[in-house]
Amino acid sequence: MSTARRKNVNKVTTHVLQAMKEQGEKISMLTAYDFSLAKIVDDAGIDVILVGDSASNVMAGHDTTLPITLDQMIYHASSVMRAIKRALVVVDLPFGSYQGNSKEALSSSIRIMKESGAHAVKLEGGLEVKESIIRILSAGVPVMGHLGLTPQSINKFGTYTVRATEDDEAKKLMEDALLLEELGCFSIVLEKIPAALAKQVSSQLKIPVIGIGAGKYVDGQVLVLHDMLGINQGFSPRFLRRYLNLYDDIKGAISNYAKDVKKKDFPNESEQY
Ligand code: KIV
Repeated sequence: MSTARRKNVNKVTTHVLQAMKEQGEKISMLTAYDFSLAKIVDDAGIDVILVGDSASNVMAGHDTTLPITLDQMIYHASSVMRAIKRALVVVDLPFGSYQGNSKEALSSSIRIMKESGAHAVKLEGGLEVKESIIRILSAGVPVMGHLGLTPQSINKFGTYTVRATEDDEAKKLMEDALLLEELGCFSIVLEKIPAALAKQVSSQLKIPVIGIGAGKYVDGQVLVLHDMLGINQGFSPRFLRRYLNLYDDIKGAISNYAKDVKKKDFPNESEQY
């Protein structure tokens, strides 16, 4: 086998994710927005990297995901793409770049694919964005759906509480999920919905269903990297498992550096030329 072909063997594709679902192997997914952390996430063997519009919150400090622009998403996605060797990279279409009409949705998706080299796009919603999904897919761009808590609609719902707890909302979510599969989405994310409903969706759908705050009976899990590393301290939903407390570790290291500078301990003789 040629080197070029061998290098591609372990790459995660949408087909690999489908095979994982069929074989009962859970899919791991995390966000990343920059070269350095994306490299670590990829080296750690995460299957899917999401360049999420949560960059608007964790990278830029906005209260919502609404302000981030298409240019900024492309900047983050390009940085991530320079780092990865194996993961499938999915990029969020930002608010306002796909809801207007399907041509705009296609041209936003093409810009992301062409300028960053990413592998797929993700967008929020079901029936409302049907035409956009059809047009993006018709250009050969893989689409991941996103249902349940859809942060780009925060001004409509007013809160980030659990979604689809009432029968009518749960029914619409199931219909939307089936529609996204029928249209040709390769996967969907379910955010912050009851575990029993997520279980029902993932058992009815053939495509992989990735959950965040959607319980264990789905085909994979996604978390925001900065949340699970404990860089953000102010965000503690029930579904978040913190694997590190990096805020304290980084702050400790930085204040030790500042102290060393103040007391003229840094640099020492061996740290200078
Ligand atoms: O932008 C994001 O990080 C997301 C995840 C919460 C799924 O969409």
